[in-house]
Amino acid sequence: MTVAICPGSFDPPTNGHVDVIQRAARHFERVVVSVSVNPAKTPMLTPEERVALLSEVLGHMDNVQVEAYEGLLVDLARERGAGVIVKGLRALSDVEREIQMAQMNAGLYEGVDTFFVTTDPRWSFVSSSGVKEVAAYGGDVSALVPDPVNRLLETRYKGGSR
Ligand code: PNS
Repeated sequence: MTVAICPGSFDPPTNGHVDVIQRAARHFERVVVSVSVNPAKTPMLTPEERVALLSEVLGHMDNVQVEAYEGLLVDLARERGAGVIVKGLRALSDVEREIQMAQMNAGLYEGVDTFFVTTDPRWSFVSSSGVKEVAAYGGDVSALVPDPVNRLLETRYKGGSR
């Protein structure tokens, strides 16, 4: 079985993330969406919230599973029998960081390759950090994130309070 991992911070998940995951799920028999837990970071959403949101949004896809993961991505790839990591590229500015990560991961585990998909141009300007900033000031991000994410952001930042 060909298994791919779609890793990310997903803080919060955006339409760009969902687009990349959906496309990965068309090409691989099983897709593991891995929500990275980094104790050194203070995310807006807990890992449980991020997993719950992604599970709700991707629930209709039988070959997609969502899980939180703390540790090296390559260790998860080994554990899940995944030979491929799928990442999205929005613009040239993503390439440098993504190539570094891909090469680092390939060096750590030669059984894994990173495949890149270019994001749908509709989402090429969308980032989790941009979404967070707009939402925190009470701006409308409903066109940029899945509905459950938008609802949670609206509840959290009602009135534009940060
Ligand atoms: O959404 P992001 O922030 O671009 O995702 C980055 C992520 C989660 C893919 C990356 O930080 C990662 O793989 N973290 C897990 C720890 C790890 O394996 N680090 C070495 C990667 S070079």
